[in-house]
Amino acid sequence: MSNLLKGRDFVSLNDFTTEEIWQIVEMARSMKLRMRSGIMDRPLEGKTLGMIFTKPSTRTRISFEVGIWQLGGVGLFLSAEELQLRRGETIEDTARVLSRYLDGIMIRTFDHQDVVDLAANSTIPVINGLTDLLHPCQAASDILTIWEKFGRVAGIKFAFTGDGNNNMVHSLLFAGAKMGMDVRVASPEGFQPEPSIVQDAQALARKTGARILVTKDPVEAVRDADAVYADVWTSMGQEESKDQRLTTLMPYQVNADLWEHVAESAIFMHCLPAHREEEVTGEIIDGPMSVVFDQAENRLHAQKAIMALTM
Ligand code: CP
Ligand code: NVA
Repeated sequence: MSNLLKGRDFVSLNDFTTEEIWQIVEMARSMKLRMRSGIMDRPLEGKTLGMIFTKPSTRTRISFEVGIWQLGGVGLFLSAEELQLRRGETIEDTARVLSRYLDGIMIRTFDHQDVVDLAANSTIPVINGLTDLLHPCQAASDILTIWEKFGRVAGIKFAFTGDGNNNMVHSLLFAGAKMGMDVRVASPEGFQPEPSIVQDAQALARKTGARILVTKDPVEAVRDADAVYADVWTSMGQEESKDQRLTTLMPYQVNADLWEHVAESAIFMHCLPAHREEEVTGEIIDGPMSVVFDQAENRLHAQKAIMALTM
């Protein structure tokens, strides 16, 4: 298969075709199986990935750092606090300078536009490790998990309930629309996904056979769902509105009552970190339906595929 991803940025799943997303997911699966049988591919021997963080991380940092090392390269953790960025050096200049040293950049930050600007001014691939708007690495990994659990992705009934104006929801809308899934998002007034992203997803869905539903009713969203997804109600940077979020979003909690409506053998998904008894009860996230640690593991495999293909 020819690699059309070489040199590309990985900023939004909307920048990739269905076939390209499948290329990532299939490579991730094959690397995972080869690793399990003791074979380590090292296509990035001698390459360096810079990893800029202006927000905390457990999974993203460790899976990228371990992933680049397993591929034969090296990862450099770059805390934004210690870069000249913090003292006013522009994103554009940072991009030009880092392009002279590194072979790829992974960035996690607040403003999505900063990642767009970094990518526009870099001559090396830029990978989005989460912004306030999108979290494409997690969504790509989640497609791998869904494929592994069900043996297919198209036609899967996928529901999200909670804060819909959320980076995970936005990336899952693109992922689902590209992959032909039936994506339902339930959230209250004021917490609905960005209308422009819903419109883009609906336009894509018309081509792929996906279906997109945005509703205020959590039961409507999860009815007969194969997979139910939750994320924290207070994302990084939203701590000031935590109390209001807890009250408004409580009817959207994934709990045993809501689980009455899902399909038999449905799975529960969460990008983690989770807050038990807020967006999900312990009996669901720690129950047999939960695949959250498989999702966390798949970050490693999916990101290795993204790095191997783009860098
Ligand atoms: N799911 C995820 O991105 O986790 P971290 O915030 O720990 O990286
Ligand atoms: N929506 C969450 C995702 C964490 C991986 C946040 O942005 O904090």
